[in-house]
Amino acid sequence: MNNYSPAFHRHKSLKQEKNIMLPFSCYSPKLSLYILATCVILLMLLQIRSLHTVLPTSSSPLPSLSPSASWSLFQQWQNLVLNRTLAAASPVNCTQNPDSMNQKLRDSITFLPLKDLRFSNQPLDGHTWFMSSMYDTREEGEVQYQQFPSEPSKGRFLCLKGRDTHDGSWNYYALAWPEALLTNATLMKGLTFVSYNHYNYDNIWHGLSAVMPFVAWHRKNSCEKPTRWVLYHWGELRFKMGTWLNLLMEATFGQAPYIEEFNDVDDDQPVCFEKAVVMRHNEGGMSRERRMEVYDLMRCKARVYCNVSLDRSDSDERPDIGMTLLMRSGARSFRNETAVIGVFEKECKKVKGCRLMVAYSNNLTFCQQVKQMSLTDILISPHGAQLTNMFLMDRNSSVMEFYPKGWLKLAGVGQYVYHWIASWSGMRHRGEWRDPNGESCPYSDEDHRCMSFYKNGLIGYNETHFAEWARNVLNDVQTKRFEEEGTKNGTASMKTCDCN
Ligand SMILES: *[C@@H]1O[C@H](CO)[C@@H](O)[C@H](O)[C@H]1NC(C)=O
Ligand SMILES: *[C@@H]1O[C@H](CO)[C@@H](O)[C@H](O)[C@H]1NC(C)=O
Ligand SMILES: *[C@@H]1O[C@H](CO)[C@@H](O)[C@H](O)[C@H]1NC(C)=O
Ligand SMILES: *[C@@H]1O[C@H](CO)[C@@H](O)[C@H](O)[C@H]1NC(C)=O
Ligand SMILES: *[C@@H]1O[C@H](CO)[C@@H](O)[C@H](O)[C@H]1NC(C)=O
Ligand SMILES: *[C@@H]1O[C@H](CO)[C@@H](O)[C@H](O)[C@H]1NC(C)=O
Ligand SMILES: *[C@@H]1O[C@H](CO)[C@@H](O)[C@H](O)[C@H]1NC(C)=O
Ligand SMILES: *[C@@H]1O[C@H](CO)[C@@H](O)[C@H](O)[C@H]1NC(C)=O
Ligand SMILES: *[C@@H]1O[C@H](CO)[C@@H](O)[C@H](O)[C@H]1NC(C)=O
Repeated sequence: MNNYSPAFHRHKSLKQEKNIMLPFSCYSPKLSLYILATCVILLMLLQIRSLHTVLPTSSSPLPSLSPSASWSLFQQWQNLVLNRTLAAASPVNCTQNPDSMNQKLRDSITFLPLKDLRFSNQPLDGHTWFMSSMYDTREEGEVQYQQFPSEPSKGRFLCLKGRDTHDGSWNYYALAWPEALLTNATLMKGLTFVSYNHYNYDNIWHGLSAVMPFVAWHRKNSCEKPTRWVLYHWGELRFKMGTWLNLLMEATFGQAPYIEEFNDVDDDQPVCFEKAVVMRHNEGGMSRERRMEVYDLMRCKARVYCNVSLDRSDSDERPDIGMTLLMRSGARSFRNETAVIGVFEKECKKVKGCRLMVAYSNNLTFCQQVKQMSLTDILISPHGAQLTNMFLMDRNSSVMEFYPKGWLKLAGVGQYVYHWIASWSGMRHRGEWRDPNGESCPYSDEDHRCMSFYKNGLIGYNETHFAEWARNVLNDVQTKRFEEEGTKNGTASMKTCDCN
C-alpha cells in the first residue's frame, strides 16, 4: 500500500493546503530562495575578489598555501558554484515574456480525481476522500469550508472536469491562476456552491445536512446568494435535490436553486469558477449557537415564503399549546393509530388551551408542513425523516420519538440523528419509546440481517406509558408558557429574518 498518512495530515496546520498543482512557478518560494542565494553568492564573490586585488600583499587567509594557489582554488570553487546555481535556475526564466510564462503555468496544472480511493475505508474523516489534497478553512465555532479564489488557494480558481454520474474517480479537480486558465476552459461567473454529500439529496435529513453549511456561509458572508449549485455524491454528479429540500433552499435564498448539469460542456473540457465555495463536512465544527442561528434563518425564511405568520401573537389560528401527531404510513407507522390518537387526545383535553392535530407527512406539501410546524409546540412522531421538520417549530418546542422493536441494538448511531437536530436547532428532545414487542427476527438479535425485519416494523403502544409521558411534557410546556407570559418576554417571537 502507500505510505500516505491521513492522521499526519490532519495534524498539520489548519489553513494550509498542499501545493501540488504547480511544481514550477515564478512565485514558488523554493525558486525565489535559489535566486536570492545566487545573488548573495555572486555579491560575496565580487567582494572577495575586490579584497584580493586591493590587498595583494596582505597575509593570506590560508597560511599553508601561497596566495596564488589559494586564488586558483578559489576560482575553481567559484566556477563550480556559479555553474551549479545557474544550472538550477535556468529551467525557469522569469524575465521571459509573460505569455510563455503563463503557458508554462497552464501546462503544469494537474487534475486529480475528485474521489480519492486511498481513503475509501474512511471517506468522511478529516479531509475526506473528496478533493483529498485540499484543506478546509476552519475558525473556532464556524462552519468548515473552502473558498476559491482565496488566500489559502493563493488566488487560484477551482476548476472541475468530467460529468460522470457513476464513479467519482472519473471526475477531476484542479486549481488554476486566472491569468493562466486552462486551454479551452469555460469560466462560469458568479458564486458557485459545490456540495459533497456522503448520502443523498432526496432524503430530507441527509439533504438538509449537506446544504445547511452553505446557509451558514451565506449568513456569515453578507448574505451572498449562489448563482449555481454543483452537487456531488461520492464525487459523482447529481442533478436534482428532493422537492422538500429544493423548496427550502428556494425559500432561504429567495430563488430556486439552479443545479449545474454542464450541458454545454464536453466531457473532457474543464470548467473554472469565478468564485466557488466547497462544503464536505456538513455542520461539523459549528458551535451550537451558530447552528441555531442557521436553523432560525431557515425557519424564518420558510415561514415568510409560505405566508405563515412569524409571531405567534399575530396568529388567530394558533393554539396556546399545539400538539401534533405526525404520522407515517407503511414502515414505522403505528399499528393501531386510533388507539395512539386516543391516548394523546385524552391527555390534551385535560390541559386548557391544548389542541391535538393529526397530520400525515407523506401527503403534506412543503408549505403545509411549514405551517403545521408553526402551530406545534409538541411534536409526536415515529423515528423517520419526517422528524427533520422539527426545526420549523418555534425554538424550545418539544419532540417525542417512537421506535419499533429492534432498533436499539442494530441501528447504530444513526438512530440518534433526531436528538442531534433537536439540540442543533434549539428544540427539546423529550425522549423516546421503544416498542418491546413486535415481529421476531429468525436470526440472533445481533445479526445484521435482522435490521431489514426491524426497519420496516410497525409500532405498537402502551397506554399507561404514553399517557404519563404526555402529562409530563404537557405540564412542562404549560409551566414554561406561564413563566414567559409572566415576564411578557414571549418565546421565539421574531418580526423579521436575518438576511432580508
Ligand atoms: C563551468 O562552466 C564553464 C563553461 O560552461 C566550464 O568551462 C567550466 O569548466 C565549468 N566549471 C566547472 C567547475 O564545472
Ligand atoms: C531570459 O529571457 C529573456 C527574454 O526572453 C532573454 O533575453 C534572456 O537571454 C533569457 N535568459 C536566460 C538565462 O535564458
Ligand atoms: C481545444 O479545443 C479544440 C477545438 O475544440 C481542440 O482541437 C483542441 O485539441 C483543444 N485543446 C486542448 C488542449 O484540449
Ligand atoms: C403568499 O402570498 C403571496 C401574496 O399574497 C402570494 O402571491 C403567494 O403565492 C403566497 N405563497 C404561498 C406559498 O402561498
Ligand atoms: C385499536 O385500538 C382500539 C382502542 O384501544 C380498539 O378498540 C381496536 O380494536 C384496535 N384495533 C385493532 C385493529 O387492533
Ligand atoms: C393523507 O394520507 C392518509 C393516510 O396515508 C389518508 O388517510 C388521508 O386521507 C390523506 N389526506 C389527504 C388530504 O390526502
Ligand atoms: C407499560 O408502561 C408501564 C409504565 O412505563 C409499565 O409499567 C408497563 O410494564 C408497560 N406495559 C407493557 C405491557 O409493556
Ligand atoms: C425582558 O426582555 C428585556 C430585553 O429584551 C429585558 O431587558 C428584561 O429584563 C426582560 N424581562 C424579564 C422579566 O426577564
Ligand atoms: C429556551 O429555553 C431556554 C432555557 O429555559 C431559555 O434560556 C431561552 O431563552 C429559551 N429560548 C427561547 C427562544 O424561548
